[in-house]
Amino acid sequence: MEKLGRNDACWCGSGKKYKKCHIDFDERIEEIESEGHIVPDHSIIKTPAQIEKIKESAKINIAVLDYVAEHIKAGISTAEIDKWVYDITTKMGGIPAPLNYQGFPKSVCTSINNEVCHGIPDENRILKDGDIINVDCSTELNGYFSDSSRMFCIGNVSEENKRLVEVAKQSLYEGLKEVKPWGFLGDMAEAVSKYVSENGYSIVREIGGHGIGLEFHEDPWVGYVTSGVSKFVAEKGHEMLLVPGMMFTIEPMINMGRQEIYTDDKNGWTIYTKDGKPSAQWEIQVLITDDGYEIISY
Ligand code: MF3
Ligand code: CO
Repeated sequence: MEKLGRNDACWCGSGKKYKKCHIDFDERIEEIESEGHIVPDHSIIKTPAQIEKIKESAKINIAVLDYVAEHIKAGISTAEIDKWVYDITTKMGGIPAPLNYQGFPKSVCTSINNEVCHGIPDENRILKDGDIINVDCSTELNGYFSDSSRMFCIGNVSEENKRLVEVAKQSLYEGLKEVKPWGFLGDMAEAVSKYVSENGYSIVREIGGHGIGLEFHEDPWVGYVTSGVSKFVAEKGHEMLLVPGMMFTIEPMINMGRQEIYTDDKNGWTIYTKDGKPSAQWEIQVLITDDGYEIISY
């Protein structure tokens, strides 16, 4: 981190002198870093003004998902969902962040049953009774980003699939119990992992959440598991220190069967469970506050 003089203007843009603003905050972070922890860079700590802008973006994201929740049903195509997302987002002044993101061709990800994530909306993919679907929405508004996803049960869904969807949702709230300033990302990750494995499911290792706000994807990477391809340590007291002003998503992908996945080699995007069993995911965007957290998008 840059070294500011006590009388310099604070890096946060408050206009206050450093000694009257973030100096104690920075010293606390440096001390924790000296104990060997991963700590956040100033670049991922949002100012109050930035947080307001990000919340404006999230208003659109939430409104889009609320619309989807009211209108999704058997018989519609995933391309229709894509059109709703594009139309509402742009009408409200935003841009669907997935559109053209690294070549992604649509405005939203729609992932059904054994599709883990990054399903591409398609006019030939018709929702049918019993499907479970994740609709993952991300919005850019005036350069500020929001991102969240929800599951929807189409018509009569089997009890075992309903339970998967519920456990995936509850896993976020188990994780959130451990989200607090001056805690660690691993506190949250361990809580998610424990809850999911106690319920007999597995968590995808390769894909996690991410910092968000000023960019679509920022540091930190947000994993939930210790082993395998991920170097992430999903244990209490490990991974990045959480401080007020940080913002990231929690979005574990929960598989009914084994954790292994593969990528669609035709479209290069869609991720599937290797064993063909269903997968469920909910995603929320969370801000670390002075005394806990705030859910920014859901
Ligand atoms: N919410 C997903 C993410 O966090 C959105 C992916 S958009 C895509 O990565 F364009 F990459 F598919
Ligand atoms: Co995301």
